[in-house]
Amino acid sequence: MAAYNVYDCSIIELDKHHSERKGNLTVVENGVTLPFDVKRVYYLYDVPGGESRGSHAHRELSQLIVAASGSFKVTLDDGNVRRSFFLNRPYQGLLVRPGLWRDLDDFSSGAVCMVLASDIYKADDYIRDYDEFLKFRQNGL
Ligand code: TYD
Repeated sequence: MAAYNVYDCSIIELDKHHSERKGNLTVVENGVTLPFDVKRVYYLYDVPGGESRGSHAHRELSQLIVAASGSFKVTLDDGNVRRSFFLNRPYQGLLVRPGLWRDLDDFSSGAVCMVLASDIYKADDYIRDYDEFLKFRQNGL
């Protein structure tokens, strides 16, 4: 299969149940919401102002990134094109396909970055060196 590029990644509107009295509830369900099943959830929080996270690519992992609270920016890079997404709604998620470099920054105070991932944590799925990432892209994945 051809490598994914940044245009294969987009913000998905998630199911939102609104109650005037009780507030909102958003659901992500395997087999319904995403093109992968969720095997792991983790979240970033208490990120100091001005700090950035990410700076890596995943060989196989797909993710949905949600600003569960606050806001931040996600920049995706496929080796040719960079595309930035500003996340600030708990009922939206950025679908990130495998093989793309990502940087997260501009975290607001109190931001919670929730990540729903297609696999458990595997250190060898990470590419943390940008030159190695470019080589990985050139080799056609
Ligand atoms: P890392 O992926 O480097 O964070 P970020 O790219 O968002 O800055 O992860 C930070 C640390 O947490 C690193 O030591 C690996 C560990 N970690 C796990 O043990 N399990 C996980 O599921 C994740 C995402 C990270």
